Amino acid sequence: MLSPTIVASLLTRAADPIGPTIPMRTAMNSSDWIRRFHRWTSIVFTTTVAANFVAMTKGPPPAWITYSPLLPLLLLLLSGLYLFVLPYARTWLGVRRGRQAAHAQSMAAALPE
Ligand code: HEM
Repeated sequence: MLSPTIVASLLTRAADPIGPTIPMRTAMNSSDWIRRFHRWTSIVFTTTVAANFVAMTKGPPPAWITYSPLLPLLLLLLSGLYLFVLPYARTWLGVRRGRQAAHAQSMAAALPE
């Protein structure tokens, strides 16, 4: 079965023979993976925070419960910063690729027939 993403990719290519500056994604790439990781780690983090509140109803919680949100929070920070930078990195790469394509076109136009 053709997925909607593949159909969209084929239509984009048909409309633009040179192809999009940034290729359409058809498979799960690393940023999808990080986004899914960030989403699930947020569930783990929320659970550890909730566990702290539950544990506090029974007196001071043990240190491992108190500090258990820190590891998922660190992982969220790292993956979140990656997700934050991603759109800007795409723009920088896209601009560079666009400039390269324009340069290649002008060089090709200067060649004798
Ligand atoms: C600690 C620093 C964190 C940073 C720098 C960060 C950054 C980000 C960024 C940049 C995005 C993508 C937004 C977008 O593309 O629209 C994102 C998505 C998200 N963040 Fe965070 N985040 C952090 C912590 C958290 C925490 C503590 C939670 C929840 C407990 C959380 C839950 C989510 C969820 C559920 C998404 C949507 C993921 C998806 O696309 O399915 N994040 N975050």
